[in-house]
Amino acid sequence: MTPPTFARRLIAWQKQHGRRHLPWQTQDPYRVWLSEIMLQQTQVATVLDYYPRFVAAFPDVHALAAADQEAVLCLWAGLGYYSRARNLHKAARQVVGQFGGRFPDERLQLEKLCGVGRSTAAAIAAFAFHKRETILDGNVKRVLCRVFAQDGDPADKAFERTLWTLAESLLPEQADEMPAYTQGLMDLGATVCKRSKPLCHACPMNDICQAKTQQLVEVLPRKKSTAAVQQQSWYWLALFNADGAVWLERRPQQGIWAGLYCLPTFDKLADLHAYAARFGISDTELQESPAISHRLTHRQLEITPFSAVAKNQAGLSETTGHWVTPQQMADYGLPKPLSRYLAARDNG
Ligand code: ADE
Repeated sequence: MTPPTFARRLIAWQKQHGRRHLPWQTQDPYRVWLSEIMLQQTQVATVLDYYPRFVAAFPDVHALAAADQEAVLCLWAGLGYYSRARNLHKAARQVVGQFGGRFPDERLQLEKLCGVGRSTAAAIAAFAFHKRETILDGNVKRVLCRVFAQDGDPADKAFERTLWTLAESLLPEQADEMPAYTQGLMDLGATVCKRSKPLCHACPMNDICQAKTQQLVEVLPRKKSTAAVQQQSWYWLALFNADGAVWLERRPQQGIWAGLYCLPTFDKLADLHAYAARFGISDTELQESPAISHRLTHRQLEITPFSAVAKNQAGLSETTGHWVTPQQMADYGLPKPLSRYLAARDNG
């Protein structure tokens, strides 16, 4: 198949069947960039909930750069992959500090921003500046591996380069078609050429798909060998005061949920007991709740929460944490399993 065929079909299909009217389909590079970062590892439906609140709070790159990291994390709370939010904040400061408050319009310059890799830079360049740059995320790789029957190890760097080269060769000649083309690649991968049960009958590439001809749709793309998942046990201590406020401490800037607010967290139960003892709480006064399982990218967390009413509060310093009432909770960025745990307590 000649490259123009692929692009032509994709653009025509996108205009008729693709996703339009998404709030970030603009030429404002700030909005395009923000949406692309949110859409990494996150579904459109979820982003549609977070994106408007984020844009309302930080309408442009200057507002975001001027914000506190805590305010940014608070609006990100629940979206997961929090390094995205920290990088987003750093990148806004880069745009203001290094690029005079304007997003660069070249893919290679965009890649200098924290958290912006080649594919995200290409998406911004294509959507906001109509640059002939190709994206290549997981969905697009799946489309290309199938339509062009590309059979390779996804972890192999040479195979990855082959896919970039293939993707570049398929770009439409007309730069003003770049938004529809790029959106088409994303939409085809997300809604038709799905990982399982692809809707081949609805695909614009149906009659030219080489995987289909060769009956390889089920096996391409080859699967990544799965990395071992590390198990980690944590213990949470939910200390309540007489007003029903809970004690929250900010997580360190490194590691899991960096910078978010959380209950005091311990690797060892004995450490939780020692901490509780400082507030006049004996082991028997600690109430244990059912364990919470929470999957992170490379870890399976098993969290056992304990709760108690703090009698003596002398050891709790406002420099390490805060008493937070249920009404104030929305002002704090909390990891999702913690907001669920606290909400379940409040409701039951
Ligand atoms: N996934 C990544 N970027 C996207 C976009 N712009 N629209 C829909 N899904 C996406």
